[in-house]
Amino acid sequence: MIKLAVFASGSGSNFQAIVDAQKNGTLLGEVALLVCNKPSAKVIARAKREGIPSVVVQPSDYAFKTGYEQAIVDKLVEYECEFLVLAGYMRLIGPTLLKRYEGKIVNIHPSLLPSFPGLDAIGQALDKGVKVTGVTVHFVDSGMDTGPIIAQKAVTIEEGDTRQGVQEKIQRVEHILYPQTINEILTKHAKEVPIHE
Ligand code: GAR
Repeated sequence: MIKLAVFASGSGSNFQAIVDAQKNGTLLGEVALLVCNKPSAKVIARAKREGIPSVVVQPSDYAFKTGYEQAIVDKLVEYECEFLVLAGYMRLIGPTLLKRYEGKIVNIHPSLLPSFPGLDAIGQALDKGVKVTGVTVHFVDSGMDTGPIIAQKAVTIEEGDTRQGVQEKIQRVEHILYPQTINEILTKHAKEVPIHE
């Protein structure tokens, strides 16, 4: 079973959805590690509760991004992680991680990319008054939410919807779409790996 590392910075509801998929036997990978950049993030308690190892690596402990990401790579190697799943990880991935895990990093974003990349995608959508927004799962490249799109799902914004209401609708979609899409990618990935006798 391919080992995954989930990267998260916040509450970790998507981390939980992926772990729940693993627990009910529908995830085609194993969550082997949580990588978090914030010691106060709620997601750390979730990992503990689920018995999943976690590492907190703080950017402020490193002079350069290369050192920060190399420290993460060292942990990924130690835990034999082959595939990286960003789930509310609010940092740009740099060349050190990108080179080592080329084509093996995915992200979820709460908008229909290329609309509303970056921070507070839901707020951006509400400010523009769009009637349809959604969720995108995409491969990660060096840009901000710019990599090739893998899956998208629309979410409608109704008259009178609050910010929290839209966020809840989006997260309900994310919690189904992300584990499903991870499975699709892992299935393709497995087919591409040559079988040696
Ligand atoms: C999710 O809605 C995810 O799409 C978003 O952060 C939230 C994390 O929630 N990611 C981004 O905005 C990335 N640019 P969670 O911590 O409850 O999973």
